[in-house]
Amino acid sequence: MMNEHTVTITDNKTGKQIELPVKQSTLGPQAVDIGRFFREMGYFTYDPGFLSTASCQSELTYLDGEKGELLYRGYPIEQLAEQSNFIEVAYLMLYGDLPGKDNLESFTNIIVRHSMLNESLKRLFGGFHHDAHPMATMVGVVGSLSAFYHDSTDIRNIDHREIAAHRLIAKMPTIAAASYKHSIGEPQVYPDNSLSYTGNLLNMMFSVPCEPYEINPIAEKALDLIFILHVDHEQNASTSTVRLAGSSLANPFACISSGITALWGPAHGGANEAALNMLDQIGDISNIPKFVARAKDKNDEFRLVGFGHRVYKNYDPRARLIRKMCHEVLEKLENNNDPMFELALKLEEIALNDEYFIERKLYPNVDFYSGLIYKALGIPTNMFTVMFSIARTVGWVAQWSEMIAEHNQRIGRPRQVYVGPTMRDYVDISKR
Ligand code: SDX
Repeated sequence: MMNEHTVTITDNKTGKQIELPVKQSTLGPQAVDIGRFFREMGYFTYDPGFLSTASCQSELTYLDGEKGELLYRGYPIEQLAEQSNFIEVAYLMLYGDLPGKDNLESFTNIIVRHSMLNESLKRLFGGFHHDAHPMATMVGVVGSLSAFYHDSTDIRNIDHREIAAHRLIAKMPTIAAASYKHSIGEPQVYPDNSLSYTGNLLNMMFSVPCEPYEINPIAEKALDLIFILHVDHEQNASTSTVRLAGSSLANPFACISSGITALWGPAHGGANEAALNMLDQIGDISNIPKFVARAKDKNDEFRLVGFGHRVYKNYDPRARLIRKMCHEVLEKLENNNDPMFELALKLEEIALNDEYFIERKLYPNVDFYSGLIYKALGIPTNMFTVMFSIARTVGWVAQWSEMIAEHNQRIGRPRQVYVGPTMRDYVDISKR
């Protein structure tokens, strides 16, 4: 065999060696294929949090944490943000390349025509307590889609996978808006096929039957851009959850529901809501030093939410784009004197000049700014992560489809290092 690139590992206890092949990449780190390692060396590899572990190979999204680069199917996020739109990026992620005019038109029509919910599904919202967090409703309702679509559950059938992907992308805004309406006791609003993807969402969230509602084009465009930036992000926690659930051959609706669950956490997609609540808690610029000190204190569980990232050890390119757009939105919406935004900018300035944050390369991430824009658009805080889940559904279904289509697709089943009690006999209660 040509001089294959390998890595040799030696056990200095036994002197045993193993030569492992290196898996080539088109961009970024290559990987040592350790598939034979346990069988031949008798050891597991250990990497809690998966800091150095590639769980799969993928052609979808590439990010470079040092350079602050993010590519969707090879296209830089800055160019897509500037020149594309969310539906076109959704097509790109699902089908691998930018669509021609006709393909984009037919794809848009398909998504538009799947945006309604089954009428009996609408009654499900009434079962939730009126003050249920909309993310709780999303988890339940999206999972329940599998109770409706028996015509597309053969996931080995590419046509079934495709219509499930279309249904999920199309229905997420309708389910999100219905979750919001339920939480404020207003009637659900049907999708309007004449509106854009984000225009439709705004209309379903904020229009009421009693009066006309005018969609603000600034809000429509800002949401479209934020959604592009949130579409996918390689193997983050929620995407890895979707892949693991999908590896058991569970239906796609259940898998996406598991992704929504993982995204909800404040260490992940829930950070946009948590960041706004944190700014509320800080309240005033004069309180920032106290909270920054708490964030640095190992004995204090407080974290500066919206700062830091597992991969970006430089500025999150999405945060840079969102920060710029935040300024524009606040300028155009004439509420640029929002004290919350001034507080956020001051916090960013103080944190970025603090040795603790510089040393740990803790920069503002996408969640630090997205919540500010959602707030400026009149979206309530408890809907921020719901917005994130609408956009990330494109990435989730694209990653799920890629995994299921792999010829050697297997169930994901990590092992462990057992550190519990060794074998011992049962003791009768009379002797305990
Ligand atoms: C998203 O993975 C993705 O791609 C996610 C995402 C996507 O698009 O899917 O980008 C979206 O989830 C963005 C991240 C949103 N989360 C937050 O903003 C929550 C605050 N951030 C942290 O919880 C943390 O930074 C994480 C969870 C984002 C990353 O955690 P890591 O990689 O496990 O980093 P770490 O916790 O080990 O931190 C390294 C050091 C530690 O200090 P030391 O032990 O080295 O002394 O930095 C410290 C941490 O204590 N640290 C922070 C901090 N984040 C990390 N200290 C204060 N405030 C923070 N925000």
